[in-house]
Amino acid sequence: MDCTLQIFLDDRWVDCTEIELNGGLCQWNHLVEYAIEHPDAPVSLAEPVDLKIREARPLPAFLYDLVPQGAGRRFLLGELELPDGADADFPLIRAGAFNPVGRIRVAEAVEYFEAHVERHPDARGLPGLRIDDVVVRSEEFKERLFLHGMLGTGTTGVQGAAPKYLLTRDRAGLLHGDAVLPDADATQHFIAKLPRGNRPADEKVLRNEAAYMRVAAALDIRTHPELPTLHGDVLLIPRFDRVARNGQVARLHQESVASILGLTGFDLRPSLFEVVSGIRKVVSDPAAETLEFIKRDVLNLTMRNTDNHARNTALQLVEGRVQLTPLFDFAPMYLDPELIPRALRWYHPDTRIELTDWADVLAALRVPDRERRMLAGELRRFAGQIERLPDTMAEQGVDHDIIEFLTQYVDTQVRQLKALQPLEA
Ligand SMILES: Nc1ncnc2c1ncn2[C@@H]1O[C@H](COP(=O)(O)OP(=O)(O)OP(=O)(O)O)[C@@H](O)[C@H]1O
Ligand SMILES: [Mg+2]
Repeated sequence: MDCTLQIFLDDRWVDCTEIELNGGLCQWNHLVEYAIEHPDAPVSLAEPVDLKIREARPLPAFLYDLVPQGAGRRFLLGELELPDGADADFPLIRAGAFNPVGRIRVAEAVEYFEAHVERHPDARGLPGLRIDDVVVRSEEFKERLFLHGMLGTGTTGVQGAAPKYLLTRDRAGLLHGDAVLPDADATQHFIAKLPRGNRPADEKVLRNEAAYMRVAAALDIRTHPELPTLHGDVLLIPRFDRVARNGQVARLHQESVASILGLTGFDLRPSLFEVVSGIRKVVSDPAAETLEFIKRDVLNLTMRNTDNHARNTALQLVEGRVQLTPLFDFAPMYLDPELIPRALRWYHPDTRIELTDWADVLAALRVPDRERRMLAGELRRFAGQIERLPDTMAEQGVDHDIIEFLTQYVDTQVRQLKALQPLEA
């Protein structure tokens, strides 16, 4: 089984990489023209653009960013009549990766999508929807999204457990399924995220995700300039991998930390020290991104966003620079009925023992001492913002019972951060 990847460059899709899967061995290589003309536009930040033939078992890590998950995965498995499991990943990419987040797609999946649209001639030229139609999820909405290439109850182009739709706003302010609206008509791109399930806690988590993002923005964490907005139980999240300007859409490279670290599959748990060193290898400013990552983790610990798995942190290439994307999927996950313990932790690189104090984490970080001092100083300053967090959370609309529950975690973090010494100064 094989497939061809395409990358969006200079306003068009360019064939870039050929992939072949044979008896559990996957081989891939870049196409000559792409490799020569676009050495600075990699398919993965972890792999240079060259003409080598590479091998992996079962699949190269970067392909897992394209595998449909959640509702989109379940729908496509039904369409393809396949049982779920690791063997389904490649067929799912070949059918479902026609419009993923980022700027890589699969040519065969585009054909699959076009065949779907052709079987539904009514899909052409339909007017867009208002956000209220999405909130009510009327029959018309469901039918429209099916026709608009969402291929069922969830989209195949964006990962994660919660049901989502990729929507694009046109010039009249109406929303369309992302894959059907021509770039020339697009003004803004969104992910519409629904509660994970229909229990009250699911709705509470999503409602507070909007407030959590406002809190992160107030603490100067990197966030998209336009924050998510809540409409009924739908969180409308502006996308940061797309920029619509002057009738053109730029697609930015986006890649999960799991892919950067070469992790295959969906449930691998690297130590946060490995995550940091993986990030530092590819970003333009390692010191700044390390600080940003650690501040995000202080917030994860304080605000109990326990679901910090390796696909909930990603990198982007924007204006020639590689950096962490704006924050996403930041929510009071401790409330999730599925009881999600903190996924990734600081396991000491040598002893593998979990470190739970920032002084120990900073001491074990493999960074120059000058940088360690900078980190300690910045985190001590951050302690003041964490101390004021209960007020900030109240101002930004976090539920009161959540704020109350978090008091103990605020205290712990403030104590640890204030105690950071100007190490080895
Ligand atoms: N604003 C955004 N712009 C671009 N891509 C985004 C944005 N927000 C999320 N994503 C991408 O969409 C994926 C799914 O989003 P998100 O993590 O919020 O969903 P989820 O269902 O809550 O995930 P999980 O299974 O981790 O709980 C992310 O892993 C990321 O790749
Ligand atoms: Mg997620």
